[in-house]
Amino acid sequence: MAEIQELRCVVAGCRFGADEVDYTCPNHGELGTLDILYDYDALRRRLDRDAISASSVSNCWRYKRLLPLAPDAAVPPLAVGWTPLYETPRIARELGLRRVWLKDDGLNPTGSLKDRASALVLARALERGIKTVSAASTGNAAAALAGLGASLPAIDIVIFVPADAPPAKIAQLLVYGAEVLLVEGSYDEAFDLCMETCAAQGWYSRNTGVNPFTTEGKKTAALEIAEQLNWRAPDAVAVSVGDGSIISGLYKGFYDLRQLGWIDAMPRLIGIQAAGSAVLANAFSNGLAAQDIRPGPASTIADSIASALPRDRAKALRAVRRSGGCFLTVADAEIQAAIPELAQLSGVFAEPAAAAAYAGLKAAVRAGEIEPGENVCILSTGNGLKDVDRARKSTTGGIRVAADIRAVERALKGAGLI
Ligand SMILES: Cc1ncc(COP(=O)(O)O)c(C=O)c1O
Ligand SMILES: [Zn+2]
Repeated sequence: MAEIQELRCVVAGCRFGADEVDYTCPNHGELGTLDILYDYDALRRRLDRDAISASSVSNCWRYKRLLPLAPDAAVPPLAVGWTPLYETPRIARELGLRRVWLKDDGLNPTGSLKDRASALVLARALERGIKTVSAASTGNAAAALAGLGASLPAIDIVIFVPADAPPAKIAQLLVYGAEVLLVEGSYDEAFDLCMETCAAQGWYSRNTGVNPFTTEGKKTAALEIAEQLNWRAPDAVAVSVGDGSIISGLYKGFYDLRQLGWIDAMPRLIGIQAAGSAVLANAFSNGLAAQDIRPGPASTIADSIASALPRDRAKALRAVRRSGGCFLTVADAEIQAAIPELAQLSGVFAEPAAAAAYAGLKAAVRAGEIEPGENVCILSTGNGLKDVDRARKSTTGGIRVAADIRAVERALKGAGLI
C-alpha cells in the first residue's frame, strides 16, 4: 500500500494528515484542492517497476501499491483501466510527427476515463463503510459512479445531472439504477446542489476537483501510458479539458513516476479546450493565477468539456505550466470534423470531447507547440457511442437503395465501387 504521507493544498501548500480532511483545504476553500502525497523514498525502496510489468492484473489495480488503498482493500469488480494504447502511424504521417499513440479510454466499463476516478472513490467508500456516494456531472462521471456503484450492492448512488445532458448519458444512469436528479440548470448549478446535499446528508461526494481521490484514480491513465511505452513517457500528451481534473490526474501520475525514478522526464501536457468554454486556456494565455480566474461562457457541442469555472483550475494550470505544456482551443466545427477523421484514421470512435484532443493535437502542430520529430500520445477520454446524435451530424453519406439487387448494383456503380 502507498501510505498517505500528507494531503497538501495546491494553493499554499497547507498540510493535513490522511484522515484530517475529506475534500478541499479548509483555509482555501473550493480552490484549495489537495494532492495526496506519499513517502516516495520508502516507495522507491519497496516497489519495483519490473514487478508491476510482470503483473497478471489487467486493470487499474495493477497499480494498487501506488494508490492510497490497503493491499487487501475491496475494489469494484468491473475491469477499469489497462485500456489499449494503439500506435497510429497514419495520424503520425498526417501530422508529420515521429510516432503517435492513441489511448482508448472509451473502452472502460461505462465508456469513459471517469471510471478510474469512480473506482478509487468507491474503493475508499467501501474501506470507510460509507453507504451513499453522490456526484454531479455533465454525464460521464455520473455514469461511471452509477455503473461501478451498481456492481457494489452495499452502496447507494445519487446523481445530479443537468436535465439537458445527452439522452444516452441520462439513459445510462437510469439503466444502472442510480437515483437521478435531473437538474433544470447548468452543470455548475448541479454541482453546487450536490455539494450542499452531501454536506447536509453526510453522503460522500465523488465530485471532480473536490475529492482528492478522483485525481489519484485518474493518474492511473498516466501510469499505463508510461508502462505501455516500456517506462518511457512520450514527449507530449494531448487531452481535452473541462474542469481540468483529467489533466491534473495525468500530471500526478507522471509526477509520481518521476519521484520514483521510473521515467526520465515529464511529458508536456497539452490541454485542449473548446473555444466556447475556454476559461483555462484564456487564463493560461493571460498568465493568470488560479485565484484570479472568473467564470466565463461554457458553450460547446462537446458537452463533457463545458465548464464555466473549472473546478480543478488550480491543479490544471499547475499541470500545464510545470510540465512545460500549453493550453489551446478548438472550434466546435473542428471538434465535429475530428470525430469521423479520428475514427477513419485509427478505428477509434470518440465522443466529441474526446475527439477534441485529436483536433487539438492538429492545432498544436500548426501552432508549433509540437515539433515534427516528436512522439505524442492522444488520450481519447470517452466512447463515441455516448453521443450518437452528434456523431451522425458529423458525417454525410449512406446510400439509400431499394431492396433489390439491381438497385444495389446501380448504387455501387454510382459510388465507383464496381
Ligand atoms: C469524455 C471526456 N473528456 C474530457 C473530459 C474533461 O475532463 P475534465 O473535466 O477533468 O477536464 C471529460 C469530463 O467530463 C469527459 O467526460
Ligand atoms: Zn490551503
